[in-house]
Amino acid sequence: MQSAGRRERHEGIPLGESVTITDNRTGKSIEVPIVNGGVDSSEWAKLLPGVWFYDPSFGNTASTSSAITYLDGEEGVLRYRGYPIEQLAEKSTYLEVAYLLIHGELPTPVQYEEWKHQITTHTYIHEHVRKRFLEGFHYDAHPMGMLTSSIAALSTFYPEAKDIEDPANRMRQIIRLIAKLPTLAAGAHRYSVGMPFVYPDNNIDFQTNFLSMMFRVAEPTFECDPRLSRALDILFILHADHEQNCSTTAARVVGSSQADPYSAMAAACAALYGPLHGGANEAVLRMLTEIGSYDNIDAFIESVKAGKGRLMGFGHRVYKSYDPRAKIIKQAAYDVFEVTGKNPLLDIALKLEETALNDPYFIERKLYPNVDFYSGLIYQAMGFPVEMFTVLFAIPRVSGWLSHWQEMLEQKSRIARPRQLYTGVDERDYVAINARQ
Ligand code: ACO
Repeated sequence: MQSAGRRERHEGIPLGESVTITDNRTGKSIEVPIVNGGVDSSEWAKLLPGVWFYDPSFGNTASTSSAITYLDGEEGVLRYRGYPIEQLAEKSTYLEVAYLLIHGELPTPVQYEEWKHQITTHTYIHEHVRKRFLEGFHYDAHPMGMLTSSIAALSTFYPEAKDIEDPANRMRQIIRLIAKLPTLAAGAHRYSVGMPFVYPDNNIDFQTNFLSMMFRVAEPTFECDPRLSRALDILFILHADHEQNCSTTAARVVGSSQADPYSAMAAACAALYGPLHGGANEAVLRMLTEIGSYDNIDAFIESVKAGKGRLMGFGHRVYKSYDPRAKIIKQAAYDVFEVTGKNPLLDIALKLEETALNDPYFIERKLYPNVDFYSGLIYQAMGFPVEMFTVLFAIPRVSGWLSHWQEMLEQKSRIARPRQLYTGVDERDYVAINARQ
């Protein structure tokens, strides 16, 4: 036990690499080391049992340590497993990046071939998933609702997934999820437009296979301009992970209860659906369409500044400079438009960006375009309906969610269970219904 006024010191803490906290009620102090940029809350709790850190929305809370993705929001830096996102987008493929996220290292040629083979041979879904689940939805069901529900439904097809302690079993489910998401996504789209389901083609690469399942009609073999399939691959790379964002946190929180991975991924997918997160790409396109012309931009910006809605695709909890992914996407948009012709909304987006970046409201708040600002323009030019945009985000993000889910299990984490600061009424006696005013 510490005596009042005495400071408990941790051996070996370099000078300046710690913080000291004093409980003014007792005069006791404790010195807590700063490790990897954070302080261990269990150390604080020793001094302040029953006094909780109030941090709604976790703006100042590191919920875990993680070795997957590095993000510096002030400098606009993003790295997966140490590799800069710019290099991965230029030189890698989505499937290679998925391997990197899951395994921690880039694959050797042999490992890469095996990984691609594994993913390719798990792309089929059980016929009941298609016929009973996907085709059981209402004709105008949103594909994100269909995707979220069908990912959850997969848990009933693979009950062995509950055995989360076995690494080999875990890897089987990881491969299934990465492989099956495009099939579920395209199936949801085909149903919504009344087109027959297209089965996966194991002879074509991951993203071209997805395009085939989306758009193939009667042609014997699906062909698409390689520039489009490469652009989609780049978008998949950019969306694959983003450390402890809302959906990844949902995956980790649900996974911490030792739920099976399909249930945890469905929870993450549901979190992604919201317009403040992955749903923003859909909201951006609707916003640009609503603005409609250059002449309306100033009025729109003024309405945002007056608090009537947000400039969708702008702002980020962590980035306080240009989102590095948005820069790469902006360039990819021009490559796609060379093939498809320019999306007429591009000029409105460019002007909107320029106006916002020169406006004190956005400058003072450090609001810059995020990953969602330009991605929808590419998706639309490639022929994807607006409702599919967030689904396109979910397809690659599942590899990020799964890498965090696996990391969490390997860290032997405890169940996620935050505290609250209770602000409700004090104890009171039950009043019989007839006696209530
Ligand atoms: N348009 C206008 N004002 C904004 C915007 C925006 N897009 N984003 C933030 N602000 C303002 C807020 O009103 C607030 O102003 P105030 O200080 O006068 O109250 C200030 O900037 C800080 O905003 P917060 O809401 O505190 O920022 P937070 O970190 O909680 O939110 C978020 C981040 C949700 C991304 C927000 O910027 C936003 O709503 N952006 C639009 C939606 C969007 O593009 N989401 C995609 C994010 S990327 C992703 O998830 C894939």
